[in-house]
Amino acid sequence: MNKFIVLYKSKYGAAKRYALWLAEALGCPAIETKQAKISDVEQFDTIILGGGIYAGGIAGISFLKKNYERLKNKSLLVYAVGASPFSEDGVAQLRNRHFRGDLQKIPLFYLRGAWNETKMSWSDRTLCAILKKSIAKKTPQDYAPWEKALMDAIGTDCDWTDKESLAPIIGAVSHKYT
Ligand SMILES: Cc1cc2nc3c(=O)[nH]c(=O)nc-3n(C[C@H](O)[C@H](O)[C@H](O)COP(=O)(O)O)c2cc1C
Repeated sequence: MNKFIVLYKSKYGAAKRYALWLAEALGCPAIETKQAKISDVEQFDTIILGGGIYAGGIAGISFLKKNYERLKNKSLLVYAVGASPFSEDGVAQLRNRHFRGDLQKIPLFYLRGAWNETKMSWSDRTLCAILKKSIAKKTPQDYAPWEKALMDAIGTDCDWTDKESLAPIIGAVSHKYT
């Protein structure tokens, strides 16, 4: 049985960058969820799935949900990549939205990604402008952490990806084999 595989879904490259760093550190393959065949994925003991966060949803998580019956006895771990700074509340919200029932036992890690408006599609830029308009109606003290991050990031290009932030994930998946 092969040890690790990393699956990812990334629109602008941050979740992919983390997937490639993980693959390098763990000596394993990293493939996009849309290319992944469940019959191949089943050959691995530990499956790490990562995706960018879009309007509170984790890209690529549907692969896990759709195939959960076939993967439920594997070691599973999810990482979500967003523009917001880390917050316990933010992670709790992601958990409540995506990890119901049996999925609650899957560890979820948050990693900070990037914000690059020059690379964004027209529809994403429009969506961000609409979000900004609605957030701007609140007083800044009432912003949720992700709303504050969005307001700070709009109009700028930022990259918070950091290889070192993968240490807890590498530790969590490796301890089983040491
Ligand atoms: C339309 C849109 C919605 C987003 N929604 C969120 C969000 O709800 N929370 C968050 O932390 N980041 C959000 N982001 C930022 C992305 O999660 C961030 O840019 C991340 O690096 C994307 O991952 P990717 O590069 O792998 O696609 C959003 C970005 C866009 C363009």
